[in-house]
Amino acid sequence: MGLIENLKESADFIRAKRQFQPQLAVTLGSGLASFVDHVEVLERIPYAEIPHFSPPSVEGHPGQLVLAQIKDIPLLILQGRIHYYEGHSMEEVVYPTRLMAQLGAKVMVLTNASGGMDPQMKPGDFMVIEDHINLTGANPLRGPNVDALGVRFPDMTEAYDKKLCAALEESFQRQSLRVSRGVYCGVAGPNYETPAEVRYLRQIGGHAVGMSTVAEAIAARHCGMKVCAVACITNLAAGLGQGSLSHEEVKEVAQKVEMGFAQALSDWCQAVFGYTASH
Ligand code: HPA
Repeated sequence: MGLIENLKESADFIRAKRQFQPQLAVTLGSGLASFVDHVEVLERIPYAEIPHFSPPSVEGHPGQLVLAQIKDIPLLILQGRIHYYEGHSMEEVVYPTRLMAQLGAKVMVLTNASGGMDPQMKPGDFMVIEDHINLTGANPLRGPNVDALGVRFPDMTEAYDKKLCAALEESFQRQSLRVSRGVYCGVAGPNYETPAEVRYLRQIGGHAVGMSTVAEAIAARHCGMKVCAVACITNLAAGLGQGSLSHEEVKEVAQKVEMGFAQALSDWCQAVFGYTASH
């Protein structure tokens, strides 16, 4: 079966559970999964049950699609993403993104945990992603173009929607969280960077580095969704802070700021609801 047929089958499976018209889609990064506790959950669907979904294996990513609402705003939440470093193909990595578009989401917010490379940053800060550099060495659109999804050569001049980014920054500021804007360098992982790699990433214009988001942003733009993203700076990137890096530290810092994050994101959902592809 082809990609489009698979997406239709996955979407039919979800629609059979509940008729739902989402406009917003949210992808939650490492340690940020408890956003789900701040919304009214209508349905939790484990990835393992959804036809054609690849379940994630990484710790801190439970892996379920959540149908939810915040004050009558219907939204889809991916609680746990699929990473390239787990061994999945890029097509598998972006399958959930494409499914959210198939289910009707017009706007997508991506969240992640990242290493901060800007000298002003501190662990627990946030960075609205204004642009990215794809350093994964791969691309989810490689191979024959699926014309039913989008064009062969999608424009990425404004990959991250300016209006959505501004709303995101304001929502984080309203929660009195430290938030900046910058360029996200997406790497394949799974090892953290070397200090020499971090010096290189800074020189090419990066402000934060992480192992997700770029593929999803590319796939979401390809199929016409508006995209914005925010990184939780869980650590200073290798060589910029004290000592070594660990996934435990990343999760711990994300969990400390999770409450403010969830409130800011929920505030953002309400601020941008109604801002769809037609605008
Ligand atoms: N590098 C890459 N990915 C990350 C980091 C980092 O320092 N922190 C959290 N995810």
